[in-house]
Amino acid sequence: MPQPILVTGGAGFIGANFIRQWLAAEEAPVINLDKLTYAGNLRNLEDVSAGPGYSFVQGDINDRGLVAKLLAERRPRAIVHFAAESHVDRSIHGPDDFIRTNVNGTFALLEEARAYCAGLGPAGGEFRLVHVSTDEVYGSLGPEDAPFFESTPYAPNSPYSASKAASDHLVRAYHHTYGLPVLTTNCSNNYGPHQFPEKLIPLMILNALQGKPLPVYGDGQHVRDWLYVADHCAAIQIVLARGRVGETYNIGGGNQRRNFEIVETICAILDELRPGDPVVPHRQLIKFVADRPGHDRRYAMNSGKIEGELGWRPKETLESGLRKTIAWYLAHERWTQEVTSGSYRQWISVQYSL
Ligand code: NAD
Ligand code: TYD
Repeated sequence: MPQPILVTGGAGFIGANFIRQWLAAEEAPVINLDKLTYAGNLRNLEDVSAGPGYSFVQGDINDRGLVAKLLAERRPRAIVHFAAESHVDRSIHGPDDFIRTNVNGTFALLEEARAYCAGLGPAGGEFRLVHVSTDEVYGSLGPEDAPFFESTPYAPNSPYSASKAASDHLVRAYHHTYGLPVLTTNCSNNYGPHQFPEKLIPLMILNALQGKPLPVYGDGQHVRDWLYVADHCAAIQIVLARGRVGETYNIGGGNQRRNFEIVETICAILDELRPGDPVVPHRQLIKFVADRPGHDRRYAMNSGKIEGELGWRPKETLESGLRKTIAWYLAHERWTQEVTSGSYRQWISVQYSL
């Protein structure tokens, strides 16, 4: 049996997509270490979890004893680190968990990876830790600014992006100081199947289906660079296989769109697919609401490095990816009913005057 890889946060949106893609393409088994917060959902992996290549361990990356034991017993050849608190609105509402998991948790993981790697002797050079991060660490762009490069200085603006920036710096330091074989990926906004309906695209799809308002923050002219999750997961696989140790790689979808445009496109696709919904045309549901505090105006990625060095390219356009995503949500009603939660939405209602 080939050596496994350890995935942290594999029950979340991107982690679950990654594990499914990995098991379809690779022979190496996957160990999924996930705390199962509100965002972790084992249903995301229902169809692959019975297979021989998959095992699940419920636990916190801050639990160093558990991480040390897993590494010692299962001897993975790589860690792919997704586990994080991932939503900006939640980080404004309550930043504590963001520091605990994204900063302290990444530190704990790095410490245990360092000890494990040292114990491998010369074979430690073959080990890899891929740290999955975000474009939000670079701050906000003006309308005419060039997209973010890997060399763009960090300027995080939200508690979420600050916590991810801190984790990126720790990962970098563990390479430079201790020689830990790390790679960092910074990607743009993902969308696709299994995304928790707190993020823009799934929230708009599910609200529109139910005839609920579609809350657009501020003037709706904020720009994000949308990346279909399968394209992102393919990029991570390539970085793990062929990336240069110690490097960072920007991964963008090449799809810059204003939020308002995204919501209108979702509405237009739903008009076509769901003409019998409670409110049609769905765009009547769009409601401009109070802006998010510290809302970054524009993100955009230059993916030239990963494209040139590693030959990665996104396969989906925004239109093809959105159609696939909407089709997935329409086909998985039970999943969406199960993940919709209450109390945090109350905070959102007050914060954005919904
Ligand atoms: P998600 O919120 O859907 O999932 C996070 C997962 O991590 C969940 O399964 C959760 O249970 C788990 N987790 C949280 N705290 C943990 C802890 N202390 N120990 C173990 N597991 C824990 O997140 P996502 O959208 O899949 O994002 C995955 C990674 O990609 C994150 O690191 C995020 O910062 C990064 N990222 C996401 C996006 C995006 O658009 N979603 C964009 C750029 C970067
Ligand atoms: P989000 O999916 O929360 O991702 P991020 O904040 O990490 O970019 O939001 C994407 C964009 O959509 C962001 O500019 C905020 C905006 N937005 C809304 O206008 N309304 C909403 O209900 C949500 C969740 C986001």
